[in-house]
Amino acid sequence: MSRAPTQAERRLYQEAATLIERAYVPYSGFAVGAVVVGPSGRSHHGVNVENAAYPAGLCAERAALAAMVTFGERSLRAVAVAAADGQDCVPCGQCLQALAEFGDPTIVARMGGELVVVQLSDLLTTPFAFGAGGP
Ligand code: THU
Repeated sequence: MSRAPTQAERRLYQEAATLIERAYVPYSGFAVGAVVVGPSGRSHHGVNVENAAYPAGLCAERAALAAMVTFGERSLRAVAVAAADGQDCVPCGQCLQALAEFGDPTIVARMGGELVVVQLSDLLTTPFAFGAGGP
């Protein structure tokens, strides 16, 4: 289910780590940076942006995803997530669902104290999708 990262995947994680300082986390103090890569190979960046109305806060992964879609790409190849101080950070269920809308990317993140690579579909086997009838 998980494997060791390649050099390129390690670099992507390091790129996500450079974003951490821009996270807006006055409530949790848990700063996260995320990079998503679409078909062009370009990186799109995001950080978590919290809010006094807690549920209005945004995770780094969905911020990066919004940047990719805004840029004009709609397919995900890879996602890297880094939390402050090398802490573990597995994308939350809401982010997995949001990412699954755009494919089954590899995810580079620290889990169980190690930097690993997993497929999104390993973490979320059955994302919600509208049935044949559609909405
Ligand atoms: N958070 C992320 O940005 N990404 C994750 O993968 C997990 C959690 C944020 C949400 C909130 O701002 C803070 O981390 C604590 O949950």
